[in-house]
Amino acid sequence: MEYKEIILSLKNLIKDVKYDVTILSNTSAFLFGNLNNINWVGFYLTKDDGMHLGPFCGKVACMFLPYNKGVCAKCATTKEAIIVKDVHEFKGHIACDSNSNSEICIPLFINNKLYAILDIDSPIKNRFNDNDLKNLKEIVNILETEILKSQILLD
Ligand code: SME
Repeated sequence: MEYKEIILSLKNLIKDVKYDVTILSNTSAFLFGNLNNINWVGFYLTKDDGMHLGPFCGKVACMFLPYNKGVCAKCATTKEAIIVKDVHEFKGHIACDSNSNSEICIPLFINNKLYAILDIDSPIKNRFNDNDLKNLKEIVNILETEILKSQILLD
């Protein structure tokens, strides 16, 4: 599916949902089913002690990631998205699925506070480019808006 269609469908899928976990769960399944050459899509929730596994699709993954090692850690500590063309060349990369060869991480912020990392793995080297980055950032913006709204729906 093209990003344009993915974004439109995702907006419909997650609007007026009450719980963040519900939004993140179906977003993982939706991206996993509609992005090409992907073997893992999910969210790590950024807590004080480190990053805890959230909703995802793919093989069983590391349930806890520290802030001082790995691709997600780099994304969380710099608060910037990161594309890793070849995970085997990234010092400290944490391999959850041995099929992964490239990776992209994008931070999510709620009320200006780091909230989660969207992490996507591919079995292909150099899978992610600037177009993926631009569109996935737009998806993350939609998630941030809907999660913020979901908190208001809960009140
Ligand atoms: N590769 C990540 C760990 C998470 S898995 O890819 C699902 C990292 O180095 O932080």
